[in-house]
Amino acid sequence: MTARHLLEIDDLSAGELALVLDLAATHPVPAHLDGRGVALVFEKPSARTRNATEMAVVQLGGHPLSIAGGEIGIGTRESPEDLARTLACYHAIIGARVFRHGTLQSMAGALDAAGVVVPVVNLLSDTAHPCQALADLLTLREAFGRLEGLTVTFVGDSANNVATSLALACAMSGVRLRTASPAGYGPEPSTFDRVAALGGVVEHGQDPYAAVAGAHAIYTDVWTSMGDEGQAADRRAAFAGFTVDDRLVAAARPDAIVLHCLPAKRGEEITASVIEGERSAVFRQAANRMHAMRGLLWWLAEHMETAR
Ligand code: CP
Ligand code: NVA
Repeated sequence: MTARHLLEIDDLSAGELALVLDLAATHPVPAHLDGRGVALVFEKPSARTRNATEMAVVQLGGHPLSIAGGEIGIGTRESPEDLARTLACYHAIIGARVFRHGTLQSMAGALDAAGVVVPVVNLLSDTAHPCQALADLLTLREAFGRLEGLTVTFVGDSANNVATSLALACAMSGVRLRTASPAGYGPEPSTFDRVAALGGVVEHGQDPYAAVAGAHAIYTDVWTSMGDEGQAADRRAAFAGFTVDDRLVAAARPDAIVLHCLPAKRGEEITASVIEGERSAVFRQAANRMHAMRGLLWWLAEHMETAR
């Protein structure tokens, strides 16, 4: 028996994903983590993920323990494998935000090889942000009362972690995803393949106006992700014309919402007027990070119980 890790959103089945979203909206919340620890390792900064996850653990009766990457030196002071084995001595679940996705795979692999049933949850890596995708779906479902049949357009760096997890999550939920990016910043070829394997499709183009026509939601994220700061000037030049502004929002459906995982760079990928405007669901989406994490941790805790 091995743990159910969540390194990418398609580590869940479509049915499991729907169940996690249902649990995220269910009250009262059981004390499924009663007295148990959840280790949260952050190699990169975080406002939403850390706060949302810590509070979700508390709501489930558990004890969150956040650890900065520099305190433990993953891969320098000790290996990801030894760190995972050690944290699993004290905690029921391990979450980690890492520079390299491979670090999460090493942690999960070490626990599986040792027969330790402690799940590893990706709190953002260079390639994936599955917990964000859960909150994104929750926000869409709240806004439209359904997921099936919606159209979401991602404008910006469609190869990044947030866009990749969103693409998979949409495919698993019957949401049509369009992406609009400058040349060289479209989804990875592997993302098209993975989405197709999930029964979905990503319609990619380079014209944001064409891409948002008929869309229920416009989603954007920073042009330069954490760890890529050295490319910021090149990216600012490449992404000129891809700012989500009032004119672009007006080209979507009249009831379209605007999503952004945050943190945002107002004036770059999104204008202040849009993020503060009446179509913006950005802070509902931020609030949903906590509800989504609670749904996920609830599901993981129940799964661990049945695995005993
Ligand atoms: N959206 C998100 O993951 O925010 P943080 O980086 O602040 O956790
Ligand atoms: N793509 C962004 C998301 C931050 C939540 C990054 O990785 O920095």
